[in-house]
Amino acid sequence: MLILSFESSCDETAVAVVEDGRRVLADEIFSQVALHEIYGGVVPEIAARSHLEVISLLADRALEKAGVTRRDIDAVACTYAPGLIGAVLVGVNFAKSAALALGVPLIPVHHVRGHIAANYLAYPELEPPFVCLAISGGNTMLVDVRGYTDMSILGQTRDDAAGECFDKSARVLGLGYPGGKPIDDLSKRGDDRAYDLPRPTVNGGSPYDMSFSGLKTAVVNLAHHAEQTGEPLDKPGLAASLCRAVSEMLVGRTMDAAARLGYENIAVAGGVAANSRIRADFEAACQKAGKTLFVPPLRLCGDNAAMIGAQGYYEYLAGHTAGSDLNAYATMEL
Ligand code: KG4
Repeated sequence: MLILSFESSCDETAVAVVEDGRRVLADEIFSQVALHEIYGGVVPEIAARSHLEVISLLADRALEKAGVTRRDIDAVACTYAPGLIGAVLVGVNFAKSAALALGVPLIPVHHVRGHIAANYLAYPELEPPFVCLAISGGNTMLVDVRGYTDMSILGQTRDDAAGECFDKSARVLGLGYPGGKPIDDLSKRGDDRAYDLPRPTVNGGSPYDMSFSGLKTAVVNLAHHAEQTGEPLDKPGLAASLCRAVSEMLVGRTMDAAARLGYENIAVAGGVAANSRIRADFEAACQKAGKTLFVPPLRLCGDNAAMIGAQGYYEYLAGHTAGSDLNAYATMEL
């Protein structure tokens, strides 16, 4: 089954062609980073307009690269939530029109389910059940993936996402946007014990819930203090201490959840899964616990449409299709 899939929830416009949920025939991505960089973050209106400008071109290019024609497409899938509402709307409306014009089913896909499914593309042998830590610029969730479309949140951030914590910390350190990669790169030259950063815990709710805003504020305060007093700031040390703190907050909870559920497999997904400290700590923890770790290659960690085509396939098999009244949503339960 060939699915033409669309992703436009934030600052990447992406179109892919995926066969049977596992094989990527084309995976086109247009990154808007250069458009937002000057503002230090994503400007929603600019994001929406840019999606509109390139989505049609990317769709044609994806079909061409896949070596298929419009008539070969069996279904159309799109991210319909969560995300920047104006941005998601562009992908949803384009996908609706494409499905109508081609006379094929329309499959709505939750963006975080898509991130989780990136692992199916990278690892053909991976099947549920497994625990997945989904960490990106807008979401941080620990998910019990019981089946391809049967999943529930074990814990999540109560405030900022892990990616937001990296991005805001990078901004105050003058490292540009998006800040996760520059912090990761800088951390490699630093001592991860240079700064004693907090690892906030949250009261009540799930033991797997997390909080990153206090950690972000601690980094901002250290940077402001250094600026005001003229004291030197060890930026590589601060970057390394931050990566260590974020990693410790994520890895411990994920390992505990897998042990409690008795799952053999642990997956990580989303843009922050590109972080080298988090990847290394997961590898060490899984080796120690005798668990199998799945982390997608860097290209599949960030936003892409191939992951939407992968999850779209399983949503279709579960009968989850939509009509042309499908709406876009800024927030949505997993
Ligand atoms: O999944 P993604 O492309 O978009 C969302 O769905 O949000 O994730 C983007 C996030 C940004 O916050 C970015 O700074 C972060 O992923 N990121 C990283 C790294 N590469 C990207 N964070 C930490 N270390 C990295 N190497």
